[in-house]
Amino acid sequence: MNKCKICGQATTIIINFGKMPLANGFISNPNSKEFFYNLSLAFCPMCFMVQLKKTVKPEKMFHKEYQFISSTSQIMVSHFKEIAEEIINRLKNKKNPFIVELGCNDGIMLKHIAFRKINHLGIEPSQNVAQLAKRNGVQVLSKFFNEQVAKDIVEKKGTADIICGANVFCHIEDINSVFRGINILLKQDGILFFEEPYIYDIIKKSSFDQVYDEHVYYFSGLSINNLARRHGLQLVDMKHQEVHGGSMRYYIQKIAGTCPQSLRSKRCRRGKQKIELKKWLNKEKQMKLDKIEGYLDFKNKVNKICKDLKTLLSTIKQKGYRIVGYGATSKSTTLLNYAKIGRDLIDYISDNTPTKIGKFSPGMHIPIKSYKQFIKDQPAYALLLAWNHKKEIFAKEGNYRKKGGTFITYFPKVKTE
Ligand code: TYD
Repeated sequence: MNKCKICGQATTIIINFGKMPLANGFISNPNSKEFFYNLSLAFCPMCFMVQLKKTVKPEKMFHKEYQFISSTSQIMVSHFKEIAEEIINRLKNKKNPFIVELGCNDGIMLKHIAFRKINHLGIEPSQNVAQLAKRNGVQVLSKFFNEQVAKDIVEKKGTADIICGANVFCHIEDINSVFRGINILLKQDGILFFEEPYIYDIIKKSSFDQVYDEHVYYFSGLSINNLARRHGLQLVDMKHQEVHGGSMRYYIQKIAGTCPQSLRSKRCRRGKQKIELKKWLNKEKQMKLDKIEGYLDFKNKVNKICKDLKTLLSTIKQKGYRIVGYGATSKSTTLLNYAKIGRDLIDYISDNTPTKIGKFSPGMHIPIKSYKQFIKDQPAYALLLAWNHKKEIFAKEGNYRKKGGTFITYFPKVKTE
């Protein structure tokens, strides 16, 4: 029996993808031995959390050669600058505020806070990206966040006015320990906010490639509401984000009962639910994300996308055209391996991350080449593996499309554009 990682109840499998390599496991030598694990997605009918049935040890994923660098997309660079501005705005009237970011990556957000000389700390377990953050002037602690780390931070630097994170909470299996840590680290009138890929968007678009080893959880407002309550916290707001193919930002505070008397009146009261929060919780309920019924169609839709995509790629290839993958994303590992799309269909994948170039994609071993190569080759077709950056990429590739280049996209259905 599979047990929920949060509440211990029995979970139900939504889809089993079978054997998968690590999503960021780009390899230098295609003949070297690769690590594989079984990838399947499950739903807990008690706390509504969608989660991986079986996880991979964090040390296997987040290490000194971790390949995910946040600052490779201009839209993400501006997105994180906006988060920094929101933080600065929230802290306008605070004396010597303290901000902690979990999973600060290369300092894409915190560098703006550091630049303003605001007291901060980034937690980043992957040492190579932590080094990049340090170079950006950010104070970094290279550890996995948990209760003990929270206690150590409080002892050295005090409690935090804001704790935030983006695309990190869904990576942490022992999320209960993270929330216990947050309870220790967060000031009574402090706020926690974080954003992660949103299960509502995943189900709506059938964007199954969001499911991979690093994403242990697929949050909804309904599941976060339960998780927060478990830890004496409350979900107070939700803001939908376009990034990563549809993300949700959750705002969480301590509940009134735990607030000191002096704070209870205004800031700390068990507040009325914000309109946005109510709206999203209702939308989730309409989609039945609190019942297994909401997830029953997912598998069939995913299988149809894979079948249609393979048929299209094979037809194009038979006509003698070249197809290149655009963006060696982590997500594409699930797509390429589940749909079994290999070098017979895709010549190479173009990517602008220097450390990925010259390597091979996990499992399917498609070579990763530079963006320069893509520009030089101008292949007839580009499979948009970085579909979450479609707006930015289409803006950049106007010329390619004008000259006859065609993109292939696949969520919510397969098409050429
Ligand atoms: P990302 O959006 O972070 O997706 P994932 O979380 O699935 O890895 O990754 C985007 C990848 O695409 C990254 O390797 C950089 C690459 N990329 C390009 O090569 N060109 C571009 O114009 C953009 C926006 C991204």
